[in-house]
Amino acid sequence: MSKSKTKKIKTDKPRTAMIADRFDCYQKSVQTPDHEVVFFEQAYRDAYKSTPLSLREDFCGTFAVCCEWVKSKAKRTALGVDLCSETLQWGRDHNLAKLTTVQQQRVRLIEQDVRKRNRPTFDVLAAQNFSFWIFKTRQEVVEYFKIARGNLKAQGVMVMDMMGGGECYEEGLVDKRTIVKGKKGFKYHWEQVSFNPITADASFAISFKFPDGSKMKRAFEYHWRFWTIPEVREMLAEAGFRESHIYWENENEDVDDDEFSSWECQEEAPSDASWICYIVAVK
Ligand SMILES: C[S@@+](CC[C@H](N)C(=O)[O-])C[C@H]1O[C@@H](n2cnc3c(N)ncnc32)[C@H](O)[C@@H]1O
Repeated sequence: MSKSKTKKIKTDKPRTAMIADRFDCYQKSVQTPDHEVVFFEQAYRDAYKSTPLSLREDFCGTFAVCCEWVKSKAKRTALGVDLCSETLQWGRDHNLAKLTTVQQQRVRLIEQDVRKRNRPTFDVLAAQNFSFWIFKTRQEVVEYFKIARGNLKAQGVMVMDMMGGGECYEEGLVDKRTIVKGKKGFKYHWEQVSFNPITADASFAISFKFPDGSKMKRAFEYHWRFWTIPEVREMLAEAGFRESHIYWENENEDVDDDEFSSWECQEEAPSDASWICYIVAVK
């Protein structure tokens, strides 16, 4: 076989980045729906000493959390809200399709802006993966929180996650993790593209890298306002929420790779270069 022929065969081979599914890579990298369900139960139980049955997932994307929610108990119902039809359709084809017919009937989807009141109301309203950071002014966030509060039952909690720490403001920092090992695996890169200290505008991007060296560059990009915990709590109070609680990752426990982190309600935490926590707002 001539040298040039060998070369041709190599270049003709499809590069994994061109054929990989970006939503599949996203879900495997940044979502743990079973963990979310356990946490929502904890948050609701702490507030009302009972078990939540209904979930509204705002900014639901491929609504993996809704699907996990209805799987977790026979009486559970879920509503997913997102304005991107392509993302919702991927969820229908890949997540909803894996549920039983009865479970599927307990999931409802609406393609719309989350800033809309719908009926019925819910026990838990979740807005995960920093999604509300898309709203860049106090006025927009307070308006969204007021509507979210209106979408909750009289006994309801809103759950959001937050990130922070000095490292999060470093432009160009890339957090790299191997998500699936081996030839068919891939790596996840979380890039802090830019941060403007004057406006707190921050851009982030997710890329995926494959064993053949190919890369799906900036498969997802986010242009957000980098909100802080005290700002968010003040806006929740302004929107009418009775209380808000911070659940910090329990550092005292040894957690294996495949075990969930545990979260403790606290008002003080040690300074940390990079942290994630939950904010739970009680109606
Ligand atoms: C960061 S992704 C989060 C997806 C998922 N919740 C998660 O935890 O991974 C943000 C999602 O919010 C949706 N989105 C952005 N602005 C929205 C709005 N105003 N109303 C409804 N959905 C919105 C996008 O289409 C996208 O699917």
